[in-house]
Amino acid sequence: MKISAPPDILKKIHALRQSIEADNHKYYVLDAPTVSDAQFDQKFRALQDIESQYPHLITPDSPTQRVGGIALDVFSVVRHRHAMLSLNNAFDEQAVRDFDRRTRESLEVETVTYAVEPKLDGAAISLIYEAGVLVQAATRGDGASGENVTENIRTVRVIPLRLSGKKIPDFLEVRGEIHMPKMDFIHLNERQEARGEKVFVNARNAAAGSLRQLDSKITAQRPLSFFAYSLAGLEGCVLPETHWEMINFLADLKIPVCPERDCVEGVEGLFAYYKRMSVAREALPYDMDGVVYKVNNLRQQSALGFVARAPRFALAHKFPAEEALTQVEEIMIQVGRTGALTPVARLKPVFVGGVTLTNATLHNEDEVHRKDVRAGDTVRVRRAGDVIPEVVAVVLENRPIGAAVFEMPQRCPICQSRVLRLENESAARCTGGLFCPAQLKGAVFHFASRRAMDIDGLGEKLISQLIDQKVIQNIADLYDLKVENVSHLERMAEKSAKNLVEAIEKSKKTTFARFIYALGIRNVGEATANDLAQHFAHLDALMASDEEKFQSVPEVGPTVATSLVEFFSETQHREIIHRLRQRGVHWQEGEAKATQSLPLAGLNFVLTGTLSRMTRFEAKEKISAAGGKMSGSVSKKTDYVVAGSNPGSKFEKAQKLGISVLDDVGLLKLLES
Ligand code: IVH
Repeated sequence: MKISAPPDILKKIHALRQSIEADNHKYYVLDAPTVSDAQFDQKFRALQDIESQYPHLITPDSPTQRVGGIALDVFSVVRHRHAMLSLNNAFDEQAVRDFDRRTRESLEVETVTYAVEPKLDGAAISLIYEAGVLVQAATRGDGASGENVTENIRTVRVIPLRLSGKKIPDFLEVRGEIHMPKMDFIHLNERQEARGEKVFVNARNAAAGSLRQLDSKITAQRPLSFFAYSLAGLEGCVLPETHWEMINFLADLKIPVCPERDCVEGVEGLFAYYKRMSVAREALPYDMDGVVYKVNNLRQQSALGFVARAPRFALAHKFPAEEALTQVEEIMIQVGRTGALTPVARLKPVFVGGVTLTNATLHNEDEVHRKDVRAGDTVRVRRAGDVIPEVVAVVLENRPIGAAVFEMPQRCPICQSRVLRLENESAARCTGGLFCPAQLKGAVFHFASRRAMDIDGLGEKLISQLIDQKVIQNIADLYDLKVENVSHLERMAEKSAKNLVEAIEKSKKTTFARFIYALGIRNVGEATANDLAQHFAHLDALMASDEEKFQSVPEVGPTVATSLVEFFSETQHREIIHRLRQRGVHWQEGEAKATQSLPLAGLNFVLTGTLSRMTRFEAKEKISAAGGKMSGSVSKKTDYVVAGSNPGSKFEKAQKLGISVLDDVGLLKLLES
């Protein structure tokens, strides 16, 4: 090994790397290689040779590093600088016409130019380049934060490790879809099968699964591809004016973009593109589940802004759901967290919409009767993208003689408790409460979920085992768990058991609102839990309330009030709450009530746009904790509108009404005051 390197070696390394990456791009992205495999191998080996002589010159952006490295234990978490959002969907022409009309009306223009592109069926990813070098890749996760999969992404040949082009931005964050081309997927499955390894149900799962391998050497062997579809940050370069130019700008930096993109005029242009792609789809090398329409002009995009979790300037027009015929083998009953009994058709496995279906929901008793689905029937089933598969209709001609009409069981199939259906409800429910293992599992799952007590690593399978093996019998028992109680469970080891116990310990420190939400009281969602926490100083005050007092909380009506009274009147629930507190579950007691003395007491807030320093969820939590009240719409009662980038109509309304507008820095200052 040589320690220092003469300047000509540095130059040589640089030239080889550039040349190899250019070959990679031509081969993998442009599908037009200009050197033979032998020539490529020769260059690659030359680079490897020099790097082995000067190992300190190996950098992560060297093409020799694309083979993967040391396996990780876990992925670290990455907070997205801007949330990764989703798209609104349209399933028919009318919805597209409405989108175009709304867009024209908001922008006050006659016609809109749209950038149009395939909706790829893969996994979203965000890439960050600093001074042209790939420094971070993250999955979408929950939109606010995702997993750091940089090591894996470095193995994806089409993704440049270093940008090339005339002008390299100081900072670039680009988003797009990791996917697996159709033929590559078929070959991968053949290889997997030949080796006796897991075969994937479809290309999307294969892509998403490969992306989340802890061992990047495995990812390196998976034929992943990538197309960029948006820009989330740019510094040191002039921002293009249109989406179309922006995509071309990315292509100039050698970032792969979809060749089937186009630019069209008005709604008729959208329909023409949709038709064109419906036909082209079959022969294209990648899977798509629809097309995406985006207002082309970026200034118009910001003017339109966002609603909830999706931009107003874009729309996904989905291809029709795929349908198939199969047979219902049995109608099973699933019991959910609230005890609701859901009839589910167990199907003879059938391949539809890219996956093999074995179940389809029948929603509730009335739905089964309306469609008159019976065990043994031949049915038409449908599956679209991320929608729950469902039974569309029965093929009556094929009904076997003697097929019995469906009847809701009188007793819960899990715990044998009585089943009741209230007059004004569509769901029949098990009356077993938390004695019913199914309801208990649902309750624990909810209790541990991210927005409730946030117990990392306590998933559905583990909860099932804990309950089936009677390790826990209620949520309070979680806080008595020791490493030795869990380490023997399936798929657990000493280390994962220790992590779990630590995560449970960590969850003890919480907020009053999260705690109320975590209890899983019927009709008490996150927003209501927040309102209750704001209103009641102490848990004791909350538990001692009657219907009338509950209804005096703004936003709480008779249904919620009844649910609350019912919940707290159960001795068993009170005992569990008592035990949770005894075991150390705590929050800042009285934090809510003393609202009067809190900095934002009595102030009303509305959020709009994407904040840069925190997620909207965090902003809400901060405001609530400081005694401020959140509201969904701007009115004369609003004191502050907190606006991030791409604010929506709330921002305009605030300006019209002369309400103070803060950005997140302003909010932080206000909180400190
Ligand atoms: S744009 C602000 N364009 O669809 C909106 N998304 O439901 C950002 N997707 O998670 C998305 N192809 O992963 C956009 N051409 C395309 C897309 C696309 C696929 C995925 C994306 C996102 C999901 C949205």
